[in-house]
Order: sequence, then C-alpha cells, then structure tokens
Amino acid sequence: MKILFIGGTVFLGRALVDEALRRGHEVTLFNRGQAGPTPSGAEAVRGDRGNEAALRALAEGRTWDCVIDTCGFEPRAVQRSVRALTGHADVYAFVSSFHAYSDWPATGVDESLPRHTCASDASPDDVPYNALKAGCERAVEEGFPGRALIVNPGIIVGPGENVGRLPWWLETIAHGGRVLAPGSPDRAVQLIDARDIADFMLDRLAEGGTGRYLTTGVQGNTTMGELLGACVDATGAGTELVWADEQFLQDHGVAPWTEVPLWAPDIPEMAGIWASSSAKALAEGLRCRPVAETVADTWRALSEGGCPRPKYLQGKTPVGLAEDKHDTVLAAWDDRRSQATAQQRLPDASARQ
Ligand SMILES: NC(=O)c1ccc[n+]([C@@H]2O[C@H](COP(=O)([O-])OP(=O)(O)OC[C@H]3O[C@@H](n4cnc5c(N)ncnc54)[C@H](OP(=O)(O)O)[C@@H]3O)[C@@H](O)[C@H]2O)c1
Repeated sequence: MKILFIGGTVFLGRALVDEALRRGHEVTLFNRGQAGPTPSGAEAVRGDRGNEAALRALAEGRTWDCVIDTCGFEPRAVQRSVRALTGHADVYAFVSSFHAYSDWPATGVDESLPRHTCASDASPDDVPYNALKAGCERAVEEGFPGRALIVNPGIIVGPGENVGRLPWWLETIAHGGRVLAPGSPDRAVQLIDARDIADFMLDRLAEGGTGRYLTTGVQGNTTMGELLGACVDATGAGTELVWADEQFLQDHGVAPWTEVPLWAPDIPEMAGIWASSSAKALAEGLRCRPVAETVADTWRALSEGGCPRPKYLQGKTPVGLAEDKHDTVLAAWDDRRSQATAQQRLPDASARQ
C-alpha cells in the first residue's frame, strides 16, 4: 500500500510507521520535523497540518491508498486535512480515543454507546480533549463517508510511550529499595501495546476494512500485581513492592492516575476505565501480546535512550509521585502497619495473664 501518515514520529505513530515499513509499504510522513526523526525508508514531507497551503502542496498531483492520522486533536484542523486529501486517498484512518465516548457505565464502553457532542469544525477553546476527539472523528466521517477507519484506543503502553505512565513505574522500580504499590495486586487492569494497535490497523487497511473499533485490549489482560512484578523482573533491581491500602493513600493526598500512574481505585470518575469492550476488534483480528513482553521491551527502549516528551504534552504536569512525597507516605504506611501489629499483639498478651 501507499500510505500517508500525518504525524508518525513519536509513539503509536512511530509504531505504525515501523510496522508499515517492515511490511514493505510505501510510506510518506507529513509533519513539522520537530518531534522525532524520519525512519529510514520513509519519505518526509515537512509542513504544519494547520496550514492549508502546506496541505495543498502535500496533496498536489499525488494519491495514496490510505491516510493514517495519528495526531488529530482539533476538529477544525482535522477537517482541513480531510478536505485537502479528499480525492487523493481512498481511506482515511484516524486514531481517536476511548474517551470520545460520553457515557461510561461501570461495565465499560462499547461501539454502540454515544460519543460526545462536538461539532466537526470545533476549535479547542473551552472544549476538553475527550469531546474534541469525537469532533475529529465526525470531521473524518463526513469527509470520507463509508471510507473512514476509526480506532478508539484505551490506555496505550509500549516502547517509546510518551505519556510516561509505564516509564514512570519502570524508572521508579529500577531505583531499587521499597516502592509503594496501590491497593491490591489482584486489581484487574486493561492495557494495549501500541504495536498491537499498529498491526490491527494495518491488517484492516490491507483488507479494505473501515468502520469504528475500540482497541482497548483484552478485558483484565493483566493485574497491577502482574504489571508491577514484570517491572521488577525487567529492571532486575530486586525492588520490594509495598502494597498500601487505597483509602490510606488517598487520605494522605496521593492522587490516583496522575501521581500513581495506572492506579484507578473504585471511585465514580474511574468507573469502567478497565472494562471497555474490544470484542469487535478481537473478533476481526486484534491480537494482544502478554504484558510482560510489553514491559520488557519498554524497559529496553528506555535504557537505550528514553522517550522524548512531545510538544503537546509540555507544560502539563508530568505523571508520577514525587520522590520525597513517596518516601513520606511510605514511612506513614510503615508506622500504621507497626501500630496495627502492636495492637494485634495486645489481646494475646492479656489472654496469657
Ligand atoms: N497514550 C495513550 O494512552 C492514548 C490513548 C488513547 C488515544 N491516544 C491517541 O493516540 C495518538 C498517539 O499519538 P502519538 O504521539 O503516538 O503520535 P505520533 O504520530 O507518533 O506523534 C505525533 C506526531 O504528530 C506530529 N505533529 C504534531 N503537531 C503537528 C502539526 N501541527 N502538523 C504536523 N504534524 C504535527 C509530530 O511531528 P512534529 O511535532 O515534528 O510536527 C509527530 O510526528 C494520539 O492521537 C492520542 O490522542 C493515546
């Protein structure tokens, strides 16, 4: 296939480009040349997706079998690229998010549920990321009716992860010693490796597939215990995980998700986060590798050079618990455990008298 990527040099985009090249596809990348290098074997066209003239110059006299747009965050900007590429590509594939869905039952989302009501020409002022993604999807569906492939990933992990969730755990655990872990090791988690999404999208495109797919991975495909245990194994630092009560952590001001990445306790805002259904994608070929493989490969990638923080995330608070706060909360948890142990011993002592 001849594939045009809008983006393609950081994480999921890079995984898609690498796999497309490995499969022998003819690959063109359109981006500003700031976020990362163009892999060898791919053609680079420099330009800003917000610039209509640059998009027109890109499309002039050229055609592709498909566009893969991995960096659409503003409906109006996506609408601009969709319009510029109409007549120049057969299919427009767009990487959205499971957050584009507006209703979040505790049982998780599936493709039948409604999306946020955001217009296909909305600009980002005052509209949150989740709704903007739904608006971007509409821009693609309107411009390529019946010829749009939309994927709604859940939480993506894997080599080159730029949000820093799994990298934070790996780097923290790699320091050795004792590391706080949230709640129970048995808590189910649902993650997907970027490379598995890449395989699925390229398979679907090669088969001429279109439509909408949640790509969140297999429900409960790992647990916090397995995930963090895999981090201990991968880093080889002999780190001890100290599982602390979730309420205790929250009472000590530790924020789920942002300060402790991938920790989603039983609170209403987190309902259904690990329960989305990828049944449709799984039935049509999505395959998900074991989480231990993802963790080991991510650690290898981090050790070889880290993950640069992309521009659109700069200025946002990095994920992860500050080291001094971690140590303070760990000491408080140790105190509480010692007190609890001492109290348990008291009745024994009185029973002996
Ligand atoms: N991480 C998750 O857990 C998660 C979950 C659900 C969905 N998603 C979605 O998955 C996607 C992942 O993104 P990624 O970072 O992996 O994509 P990527 O394609 O690897 O990297 C982003 C690309 O966008 C390009 N870019 C940014 N602004 C541009 C502009 N104005 N004009 C042209 N190119 C521009 C960057 O290059 P230059 O800066 O050099 O231009 C870079 O090549 C996102 O759409 C995200 O919403 C992520």
